[in-house]
Formats: sequence, structure tokens, C-alpha cells
Amino acid sequence: MKNELIHGDALSVLPTLPSGSFDALITDPPYASGGVHAASRQQSPQTKYMQSGSRQLHADFVGDERDQRSHLAWMRLWLAECHRVLKEGAPVLLFTDWRQLPLTTDALQCAGFTWRGVAVWDKTEGVRPQKGRFRNQAEYVVWGSKGHMPLARRAPVLPGVVREAVRKVDKHHMTGKPTDLMRQLVRICETGGRILDPFAGSGTTLVAAREEGYAYTGIEMTEHYWQVAQQRLVTP
Ligand SMILES: C[S@@+](CC[C@H](N)C(=O)[O-])C[C@H]1O[C@@H](n2cnc3c(N)ncnc32)[C@H](O)[C@@H]1O
Repeated sequence: MKNELIHGDALSVLPTLPSGSFDALITDPPYASGGVHAASRQQSPQTKYMQSGSRQLHADFVGDERDQRSHLAWMRLWLAECHRVLKEGAPVLLFTDWRQLPLTTDALQCAGFTWRGVAVWDKTEGVRPQKGRFRNQAEYVVWGSKGHMPLARRAPVLPGVVREAVRKVDKHHMTGKPTDLMRQLVRICETGGRILDPFAGSGTTLVAAREEGYAYTGIEMTEHYWQVAQQRLVTP
């Protein structure tokens, strides 16, 4: 299988991929988060994730407006397809935030994976301070595996907390992850393996995979971000 970035809906594309063909699932799906009430969560990402007084520099994306029940049902659907296309013992990494942490650990297990823990992405003190409150400084990586995960895998010891600030020059998506963060996380995959990211966004997981010597397959539904990712992947 060659490296590829497919433009389409993960729910339609995943069933076309061969069973047992990937060594890791590493993805950052829409969180369907933001706001405290259902009505605020159903707003567009542009509205939900814009900090007051700031200007949104990145395009909107699809799939972030589901309510809790439909988000869980949807997560379970695509995760079950990912379960089919992964090899036995393959690791799974799912990004989420504090609101969706319980839903994400439920979805992982509903789809048949073994839940193994939660790693932390420390976004550093660069995030907006709020007087009298904890700084909302972390996002989470719910991780697990397809069944038994042998200790003797060809992968290094990984940090449980990864500290990486978001830098403007390295942010290509409204919710884009730092490339150096992803370079550390993709090392969960066995050396030289093939990584699947069905919600590729601006392609950060795929760029990190390439830089760390892995093969990759990505899927992205929003045309704008599919093009951004393609552009990043043709740049040496
Ligand atoms: C949180 S973003 C990923 C950002 C990425 N980690 C980055 O660094 O650029 C999630 C992406 O999933 C895409 N998406 C949402 N629903 C999708 C679907 N059904 N199939 C494929 N992509 C989808 C959105 O367009 C969005 O770009």
C-alpha cells in the first residue's frame, strides 16, 4: 500500500480499506465540544473555539456539532471500522478534551478496543489565563490497543506528559496540533509500520509519520484542509 491522503467521509472510506493492514491508529477527531450547554456546542467551530477579542485565522471544518448521544454513536461506528483494519495488538491514540474525555474512553471500549490509559498534552502557559480558575492548559490522548499488546514491541518508552506549545508558524488548522507533539506520539507505532489517521485535518499526523520513518494513510472530508494537508505532504 502506498502513502495516501484520501478526500472523503471516513465512514465511507474506511470500509474500502483492507482488514488487518495498519500498525497504529493515531487521530484527532472532531471533539463536538465547546460551550457548557447543548445549544452552544451545536454552533460552528469558528464561533465555539474563537477566543474573545481574537480573530479566527483558520477555515471552518465539518463534524463538530453533534450532541453527546449522536457523537458517541458516531465515534463507535468509525472506531469499529478502524478495529477491523488494524492488526492484532496495534495501538490506538485518540485526542480529546476534558469535556469529552469520558465519552472518548467509552467509545474506544464500545468499539472493542482495550483501554490502556490517558496521556497528557501540556499546551504550556501560552494558553489564555483565567483569573480565579485553573488554566485550561491540557488536552488528552486516550490510548489503548486492539487486544493484547506485547511488551516486546519495536517501540521506545514514551512520555506520559508531552509539553509542546502551539506556534503560529506550525498551525495549519483551527485545532491543529504541533508537529513536534505528533512526532513524539507516532513513535508508539512499531518501527517502520503504517499509521492510519481518518481525521487528518491539515495532515500533522501524516507529516510527523513521514518525518519519523513510518508509512501513512489519511482521510479528510473538508476540502480546504485536504488541500492544506496535500500541500504539506508534497513539501520535502
Ligand atoms: C480536530 S481536526 C484534526 C486536526 C489535525 N490534527 C491537524 O493537526 O490539522 C478534525 C478533522 O476531521 C475532519 N472530519 C470531520 N468529520 C469527518 C469525516 N466524517 N470524515 C473525514 N474527516 C472528517 C474535519 O474536517 C477536521 O479537519
